[in-house]
Amino acid sequence: MSLKFNISSDMPDLFSEYPLKIFTIKNRIVFPPVVCFHYSGDDGIVNERNIAHYTARAEGGPGIIVTEATAVWKDGRLAPFQLGIWSDEHIPGLSRIAETVKKNGVLSLIQIHHAGLITPPSVSGSPAGPSPDEKKPGSRSLSVDEIRIIRDAFITGALRAKKAGFDGIELHGAHGYLLNQFASSFFNKREDEYGGDLYGRLKLATEIIRGIRAVCGEDFIIDYRLGANTPTLEDGIEVAKYLESLGVDILHLSHGGSLQNLPRTPKDFEFNWIVYSGTVIKTHVKIPVIAVNEIKTPERASKLIEKGLTDFVALARPQMADPSWANHVKNNEPINLCLSCKPKCRWYEDSNLCPAVIKLASSRAGELMS
Ligand SMILES: Cc1cc2nc3c(=O)[nH]c(=O)nc-3n(C[C@H](O)[C@H](O)[C@H](O)COP(=O)(O)O)c2cc1C
Repeated sequence: MSLKFNISSDMPDLFSEYPLKIFTIKNRIVFPPVVCFHYSGDDGIVNERNIAHYTARAEGGPGIIVTEATAVWKDGRLAPFQLGIWSDEHIPGLSRIAETVKKNGVLSLIQIHHAGLITPPSVSGSPAGPSPDEKKPGSRSLSVDEIRIIRDAFITGALRAKKAGFDGIELHGAHGYLLNQFASSFFNKREDEYGGDLYGRLKLATEIIRGIRAVCGEDFIIDYRLGANTPTLEDGIEVAKYLESLGVDILHLSHGGSLQNLPRTPKDFEFNWIVYSGTVIKTHVKIPVIAVNEIKTPERASKLIEKGLTDFVALARPQMADPSWANHVKNNEPINLCLSCKPKCRWYEDSNLCPAVIKLASSRAGELMS
């Protein structure tokens, strides 16, 4: 597959503005969704730790912040301590996140989510998705009535996000969660209206997107985090074009659950297959695209933007390790580096265990004492 570069005469850089509908996004840096486990409790209500986390990232200078995966349905959470948007009781806390993000001139989106078959036993004894997962005993397929309840939960969740003051939402259609399961022929074996060809597999997403647009209006941003390999990159391209035709405003290209048939990255392409997939999909759509995954450094981020390979770059771990990453890059200041913990980022357990965060906190304590 070949790439066509969209290099324009006035070449953008990492700190170029981007006009989107009624918004002017101040730069091309995105803080993507990052669940902060153990911050909230079983009620999914925002607390002071969430506010401090988003305030620090918003003050740190990105153009867009996508608040972490937030559950539209209590029985579809990915953990018992995930933020929620399934009830009006969540609105006051979420509005504090929207406020602190917007106060810093950052476009404020929130990722709305249902885990589907990946719902863990601590949340539901019978995880459900488009079709049962043979590797998950007790898993089952959703009935059409249940699909419609979940569809309405996404639409109501988006309306709550709007009431809380967010500029828009991001639908979590990646990483093997519910919308990704429906879209992908790898997971979706249904023979009814919510399965079959691409349009059937995307019927749930279609109804959600149309419903959100109807209740939240034209100016409300609808971003879709798409698993670029759903299940192949060729399918991902078709899904992306279809989502654009539905009026999605931004595509955020990540991975799609299944690790089979991964796209082959050209030898001279210095980023991984996830970024590669995003850059390929960019050549097939006109709406802005966010590329993500192991972009890591300002040099690499700049290269992607300056070559026109993507419109936005998302950096998660770098901005977790250094909340002021964007400002530091802009001002040519040192960055507190992510230490790439193996086998897994320590934030999955608790951000207090992140060695980069610990290093930053101790250097700040040292500064205060000196
Ligand atoms: C601790 C942790 C939590 C994450 N939570 C989410 C999430 O809520 N929603 C989501 O779509 N991706 C989530 N991700 C994936 C990130 O958004 C991002 O795609 C990934 O970390 C790769 O980007 P990076 O190499 O810049 O870190 C999470 C990643 C980490 C490390």
